[in-house]
Amino acid sequence: MTKRVFSGVQPTGNIHIGNYLGALAQFVQLQDGNECIYCIVDMHAITLPKNPGELRGNILDVAALYLAVGVDPARSVVFVQSEVPGHAELAWVLMCNAYTGELSRMTQFKDKSRGNESAPAGLFVYPILMAADILLYDADIVPVGNDQKQHIELTRDIAVRVNNKYGPDTFVVPEGRFLKEGARIMSLDDPTSKMSKSAESPLSRISLLDDASVIKKAIMRATTDSDGEIRFDPDRKPGVSNLLTIHSAFTGTPIARTERAYSGRGYGAFKKDLAEIVETSLAPIRGTYEEIRYSEELIRVLKDGAERANAIAERTMKRVKDRFGLGTGRA
Ligand code: TYM
Repeated sequence: MTKRVFSGVQPTGNIHIGNYLGALAQFVQLQDGNECIYCIVDMHAITLPKNPGELRGNILDVAALYLAVGVDPARSVVFVQSEVPGHAELAWVLMCNAYTGELSRMTQFKDKSRGNESAPAGLFVYPILMAADILLYDADIVPVGNDQKQHIELTRDIAVRVNNKYGPDTFVVPEGRFLKEGARIMSLDDPTSKMSKSAESPLSRISLLDDASVIKKAIMRATTDSDGEIRFDPDRKPGVSNLLTIHSAFTGTPIARTERAYSGRGYGAFKKDLAEIVETSLAPIRGTYEEIRYSEELIRVLKDGAERANAIAERTMKRVKDRFGLGTGRA
């Protein structure tokens, strides 16, 4: 049976190889045999203040990157979250069925708010909006990096809770899909924290639009260790292990085979080859991105995507309103 797939990426600039390997590459693969819906989650992006002009640009950047990596708008729905009102509407209903205790346990909220009393309330309810994104489309599968695991668990908990109260088929209970290799790509200059769009140092990440010289510099300077041995051991050798993960995710070569191939050859040779592999893999993405980023075609894809997404969202909201007794039922 065809499964429904939903996922989203925040339009915050610097989309990097962690986003690609953890999420975008799966988006493309899942198009075969599934019904896929991919969103640019701009309402999540404003949980922290954004420059309006930059945000608009970032939305189109991410949309163009979706298409450039191989998301096919003829097969998949591609749209911008704020163009479908159902997301905010359903988020309210879910907020009334989530607990403040479970939200305060979310590690992303704890990291970003750090106990600050003037942290925006949107940051606190962020995971509810994410649950609404997923449940609005009756998604069976949600491809994400494993930093989103806790949010997916919360989505499942809320869906089950609502189903128990309002009827077993109110929501489809979704499953996260995490890749083993590449589920979490770490920062290149501090391999104990995840690669992130917002880290200050550009050498901490490889963005999908970086050119060959930037990619080479970031990889050649990546933090390793002093024993010179290419071995996968995330606890004792986090830097080398991260590079092996990236190598394996881009080439499909098992890590053990790469360890053997570079045995006794030192980090320099491995890093040089890896930089070439990453550059060769990203060059076509960069090329297609340049072609479509400023095209009318991109705007048309998003308009059409919003129409298709709204049609599904409206059906779900009608069902939810009926189950909860909202409105007159005759609108
Ligand atoms: P975002 O925009 O931070 O990241 C987009 C996707 O990239 C994955 N990712 C990573 N994967 C591997 N290694 C990394 N270092 C790494 N960094 C990021 C993320 O797991 C994500 O899959 N809350 C989400 C966006 C969202 C969403 C949704 C996702 C909103 N609603 C509904 C799925 C379904 C986020 O901030 O992702």
